[in-house]
Amino acid sequence: MSDNFLRNTWYVFAWSDEIDGKPVGRKIIGDHIVCFRGRDGLVALADSCPHRFVPLSLGSVNDGLLECAYHGLRFGAEGRCVFNPLGDPPDRAVVKTYPVVERNGVIWVWTGDPALADPDSIADFSFLTAPGRATVTGYAHVSADYQLAIDNLSDLTHIQFIHRDFQASEAYPRLEHKTWQDGDDVYRSLTFPNGRPAAFLQGFLSPDHLIDFTVETRWTLPSNVKLTATVTEPGAPEQYLIGNDSAHLVTPEDDGSCHYFYAHSRDYGVGDPVADEKVREWQRIGFGEQDKPVLEAQQRRLGHRDIMQLRPVILPTDVGGVRARRILAQRIAHERRGEPAPQAMED
Ligand code: FES
Ligand SMILES: [Fe+2]
Repeated sequence: MSDNFLRNTWYVFAWSDEIDGKPVGRKIIGDHIVCFRGRDGLVALADSCPHRFVPLSLGSVNDGLLECAYHGLRFGAEGRCVFNPLGDPPDRAVVKTYPVVERNGVIWVWTGDPALADPDSIADFSFLTAPGRATVTGYAHVSADYQLAIDNLSDLTHIQFIHRDFQASEAYPRLEHKTWQDGDDVYRSLTFPNGRPAAFLQGFLSPDHLIDFTVETRWTLPSNVKLTATVTEPGAPEQYLIGNDSAHLVTPEDDGSCHYFYAHSRDYGVGDPVADEKVREWQRIGFGEQDKPVLEAQQRRLGHRDIMQLRPVILPTDVGGVRARRILAQRIAHERRGEPAPQAMED
């Protein structure tokens, strides 16, 4: 098991609509977990049958229980085998259970001590299901360490380069940026002042309409980012034009790989399937063809080495990512020592 992960925390397991009538298996921080909708709601179990260790996710939901594909033992919410097609359920046929919560279209799984699982510690992503918005979700498997993905989301100056075809702004040389902290939450804000709208905004704003474009990120433990993009009149932040919120939820799979769940939620073009399709296209290209290959190439170059041990050059714009890494490392170190979670770090 890797030392690189926090265990006493909630990780995104799936989007709600990924789990319907069939079980879904996914590896999270090295644990194989299966999730299904049982008799009384969502259930998350270790994805390994205690009989012959076949993944339970190969099975099916039968009578509200998870039936193993191999010899038909069925498991319930407590992780216990409650049905054996050929007799009594064996006493020892029990699998580990994981606390699971479904909220705002997201399924979260707690990987640590169940006694510490507090759903109130899940960061607020309620915009995902707020009325009057259009939300488009997606998923990418990334063969790169989850902290590289956090770095990517904590330093959005890369949009000018990696996503130049639809997000580059002529205002980039005048970029204003700041970083602040609220408890353990790290905020970054980038403003591209008084520029023409980037390509992705031109369907909604006239290409000659000068704007301030601001992207603000909120990083929360363990590895999730809310990104708010706002278009306002130049020099007048109160004169809001349009905006969108997006969720960038990163779950470590194992050493060197992660699950990236993304969602884009806008307050313009609501109910417009063409606008939805456009977002889907940005997501496919932006994450699938732009961020993902860069992160994966970066990971290949790093191999098994931790980037921070290579004394990387740190730019002023890296400050958010560095803070997030520091908070996470401190939490992991406390957990390894068996200490309770520390108070939030001061700014
Ligand atoms: S392996 Fe699951 S019932 Fe035999
Ligand atoms: Fe990106």
